[in-house]
Parts: sequence; C-alpha cells; structure tokens
Amino acid sequence: MNHLYQRNLHRLGMYTGELVRLRALEMSDLDDILKFYNTLELRRFLGPPIVRSRKFIEQWLHKVSIWNPWNDGHLYLAVEEKETQDFLGIARLEDIKFPHNRTECGISIYNPEKRGKGYGTDAMLVLLGVGFYILGLNSIYLDTMEDNERSIQVYEKIGFKRVGLLRETEFMDGAHKGLLIMDILQKEFVEKYPDGTFKDPQ
Ligand SMILES: CC(C)(COP(=O)(O)OP(=O)(O)OC[C@H]1O[C@@H](n2cnc3c(N)ncnc32)[C@H](O)[C@@H]1OP(=O)(O)O)[C@@H](O)C(=O)NCCC(=O)NCCS
Repeated sequence: MNHLYQRNLHRLGMYTGELVRLRALEMSDLDDILKFYNTLELRRFLGPPIVRSRKFIEQWLHKVSIWNPWNDGHLYLAVEEKETQDFLGIARLEDIKFPHNRTECGISIYNPEKRGKGYGTDAMLVLLGVGFYILGLNSIYLDTMEDNERSIQVYEKIGFKRVGLLRETEFMDGAHKGLLIMDILQKEFVEKYPDGTFKDPQ
C-alpha cells in the first residue's frame, strides 16, 4: 500500500488529471460561478432551485473557499480546464469524518457547453485521489437524484456502487423523487486504478 500510495500521489501532482486540475477556490471565481448558478439546468440536480443574489453567492464563496478539512470537515475546490485554465465547476468533499475516514463528495460542471466532454469523470477521479491518497479516507459516498442518469453513468463508470435509495426524498419538477446513494471504498479504488489513474502532471 505504501508503494502504491507514493506512486499515485506523485501522479496526482497538485491535483491534476488528464483534462482538469482541482485548485483552491478564489473570490475571483465569483463571476464565473454567477454566470451559471441561477440556471435550472444546473440547479435542478442540486436541490431546490432557489434563485440566489450576487451577495449570497459572494458570502457563500467566502465561506467555502477557506474551509479546511481538519477544522471544518469540508474541502471545496475549483475545477479548471487544464489546457485553458478556464473555470469549469466545483468539486467538494463534505462532512469529512475522522477517525471514521469517510466523507460525502460531489462535483458539478457549471458551464453546460462543457458537460459531456469527460471533465466531470476526470474531476471525480482526481477528487477521489485527494480523498484516498492525501486525506487517507476509506469510504467516499454521494447521493444523486434517481433520474440524474448522466451523473449515475459517470459514477458507475468510475466504480461507485449503488447502495440504496432514499425513496421520495426530493421534491423536484412537481414530484417527489428518490435519492440514490452510491459509495466507493479505498481498496476498490486502488484495485480498479492500481497504477496510472492519473497522467503525470505537466
Ligand atoms: C453530472 C456531471 C458532473 C457529469 O460531468 P460531465 O463532464 O458532463 O460528464 P462526462 O463527460 O465525464 O461523462 C458523461 C457520461 O454520461 C453519459 N451520458 C450523457 N448523458 C446521459 C444520459 N442522459 N443518460 C445516461 N448517460 C448519459 C455520457 O455518454 C458519458 O458517459 P461515457 O463516458 O461512458 O460515454 C455534469 O454533467 C454536471 O455537472 N451536471 C449538472 C449538475 C449535476 O448533475 N451535478 C451532479 C449532482 S449529483
């Protein structure tokens, strides 16, 4: 395990995948976030789509950009396109619990034109690398609306398993929908990506 850890940590670089890099969120990301935040196409998958003001997002960004996994139990990161350094979205580890070594996670690609191009998959692989290889977590889980087929396809492709359905827990589009719970363990991640999950950073 130590050897694998060292090798994959090197490949992860400073959180670099094939297509994306995860980096600290900055207040300068505010305008990029606001461009897409109040759109139904993004927000219908992230809980009740309440319209948010610039002030609200600014305060939220101020809070999440300084969260620290050990003190606050959360790590929020920006997803940027490696080639252009354009802001793509947000990747998060939330409610990190030591010593259980578990966390919830999530990713969102904000710009609709950038979805379906592999960025979400790559961002989640890097995020899992951060959770498993840097924070030493054992279990990473998420929930997604049962009709979010694109996200379910991404998570299953990566290796998340379906562990249950919270029935009719989300009210969306005028109906109560279920939340699918999925998880992946460190040993499954290591087995699926034993060597070379991440390209060498350039
Ligand atoms: C879900 C999300 C993070 C995925 O990121 P992405 O960059 O769009 O995903 P990728 O391009 O890496 O992969 C998309 C996969 O879904 C597949 N897909 C696309 N539309 C689909 C659909 N309607 N049904 C099933 N699969 C679909 C693609 O074929 C691709 O799979 P493949 O690589 O096996 O061909 C992104 O689309 C997003 O942020 N959506 C809006 C917010 C959201 O849903 N966030 C997640 C909340 S849990």
